[in-house]
Amino acid sequence: MKKSAPRRALIAGNWKMHATRAEAVALIDSIKEAAGARDREVVIAPPYTALETAARAIEGTAIGLAGQNLHWEPKGAFTGEISGEMLKDAGCTYVIVGHSERRQYFGETNETVRQKIEAALRVALKPIMCIGETLREREGGNTLPVIERQVRDGLAGFGRDVVRGLTIAYEPVWAIGTGKTATQEQAQEVHAAIRTLLKELAGDTGSEAVRVLYGGSVKADNIDTLMAQPDIDGALVGGASLDAAAFSRIIGFR
Ligand code: PGA
Repeated sequence: MKKSAPRRALIAGNWKMHATRAEAVALIDSIKEAAGARDREVVIAPPYTALETAARAIEGTAIGLAGQNLHWEPKGAFTGEISGEMLKDAGCTYVIVGHSERRQYFGETNETVRQKIEAALRVALKPIMCIGETLREREGGNTLPVIERQVRDGLAGFGRDVVRGLTIAYEPVWAIGTGKTATQEQAQEVHAAIRTLLKELAGDTGSEAVRVLYGGSVKADNIDTLMAQPDIDGALVGGASLDAAAFSRIIGFR
């Protein structure tokens, strides 16, 4: 199916807590060939310690760099934290915000997500806002209300012009790292609901500009069917982004 709007696909690899600097260089080296196509954008999110090395390794390639998280303050006494400015300084253009692992293990809430998006925008980093329901929420029939709350609260107070420039990643928590991908119908249903909500938050034209990525056990053998859905504009890939052959195939989705 052809996408109705001019949204350039985005494939983002979230490396999580993986890769030393040497591993980062090797991985980048073996995916850079695959990343040249003009109709799709490729971004990787290595751990902080490998960002500067990765920034050098992607020079002259079409690969972009993302942070996995940021603090909402520009600087200060926040041991162990990293600011948006620091990510920019290390070569990032994107930052992942509110990943479900951050929400689950590090106490992030829709409010901290909102603050972090604001902090990212202040330094012109492009946030990728992650949302998604747990298995319990899905089984309780609450998927769409949970998603709506995450989007509304995470984007509270942002004007249409801001919202239209954002990227959202829908990642059902039960699909992350479990090998259980949402079916393309399950994913499309939620993506379409997000798009409808975005019409209210960004206007009709604005909502068509927002990229909504799918994440959760994206693999070489399911990327094509996912990308064929009208409201799926790309993927946030965890495990498979560490496997050069798998990630290259995902980048090369048809
Ligand atoms: P996964 O992770 O692809 O390993 O399921 C996705 C994510 O956490 O972004």
